[in-house]
Amino acid sequence: MSELVIDGHRIGVLFSEEAIAERVKAIATAIAARKPANLLVVPILKGSFVFAADLIRAMHHAGLSPEVDFMILSSYRKSVKSSGQVTVLRDIETNVKGRDVLLIDDILESGRTLAFAKDLLAARGAATAYTAVLLNKPGHLAAHIEADFQGFLCPDKFVVGYGMDMAHQFRELPFVGHVIPAAG
Ligand code: IMP
Ligand code: MG
Repeated sequence: MSELVIDGHRIGVLFSEEAIAERVKAIATAIAARKPANLLVVPILKGSFVFAADLIRAMHHAGLSPEVDFMILSSYRKSVKSSGQVTVLRDIETNVKGRDVLLIDDILESGRTLAFAKDLLAARGAATAYTAVLLNKPGHLAAHIEADFQGFLCPDKFVVGYGMDMAHQFRELPFVGHVIPAAG
């Protein structure tokens, strides 16, 4: 596995730019195959912004023309452990009643974030709330949720890059990597 040193942290590459691009294209094709009606795409910020940016452009190439609005949810704060509580920091401004909505997130781990967002959209009358995640990190699921579309199964490591951060660092990496703990 290739490795980089950034700011003194060793980062191992888990999913390369090329591998991600291939999965993004496949997900867009799978979404288009569902023939969503009056589609609204809702990236859950911040971690999903790079994935969402690539996915909506792939969706264009797959023949879709969604609207996009953003939601900022927080469950992590500055630590690497989920607090278990989901907070709406910024809500969408769009009425979802009767519409197909696609929620986009970076990682499905406990599932609390996506389950929360999906319940919220259902309560507001969305026709369907699809979910797309770049990474599925199994083994920690605490909510009843399964992603409709996923990029990769993710090993049980703290990952960064492609929009995802560790204390606001590493979002700019074009690949998904994991921070290799310093040898103690
Ligand atoms: P869940 O609510 O436990 O499913 O958590 C999902 C959210 O936790 C994701 O949207 C990420 O923001 C964050 N998260 C979980 N694992 C990681 C990780 O390994 N690196 C960075 N963020 C993570
Ligand atoms: Mg997140």
